[in-house]
Amino acid sequence: MFKGGISDQARTRARREAEAGDLAPVYRLAYVSRASSLFQPEDLQKINEQSSLRNAEADITGILIVDSGKIMQILEGREDRVRALFERIAQDPRHESVKQVAGNERSQRLLHCWSMVGLQTGLVSGEVMERYHDFHDHLSGVAERVEIAVEQVDLLKTISILSALPG
Ligand SMILES: Cc1cc2nc3c(=O)[nH]c(=O)nc-3n(C[C@H](O)[C@H](O)[C@H](O)COP(=O)(O)O)c2cc1C
Repeated sequence: MFKGGISDQARTRARREAEAGDLAPVYRLAYVSRASSLFQPEDLQKINEQSSLRNAEADITGILIVDSGKIMQILEGREDRVRALFERIAQDPRHESVKQVAGNERSQRLLHCWSMVGLQTGLVSGEVMERYHDFHDHLSGVAERVEIAVEQVDLLKTISILSALPG
């Protein structure tokens, strides 16, 4: 009997969805790169449109930040799909010095949708963007793969949220 709580049916459905989705292990890949001279301002919009469709089809979520030519992207999803997508992205001539900095299976997704930042990072405080630039510089310099910490993902999410606010 359903008495104001979650019905058994809903609970079962939620558990199945969790097993199949967010709580299932995901492969998380991160890279840094620099925009090349071919990267035009209108490319951001094009990449965003293309990515939101194609990534959703492949159940890949993630975040892409572009600011002052410094690019960072995190992708999460099934390992074979994420690797295949990264191979394609890495060949894209609109960026260079593409360096994978993280790639490992993790117990849960940290990024639940696809988002892209770059159009309006001017809305984000200088202090927050400075932290992004420091992070990018750090990752560009590391010799080995690193673990992207939850707090670092949160920094990217913060930039994403703030840059999406109406100006
Ligand atoms: C910085 C950067 C990030 C990109 N991210 C994605 C992405 O997440 N998903 C995607 O489908 N394409 C992304 N692209 C575009 C791909 O590199 C590629 O142009 C696109 O997938 C079309 O590939 P195709 O012409 O081989 O079909 C990105 C490109 C750049 C420069």
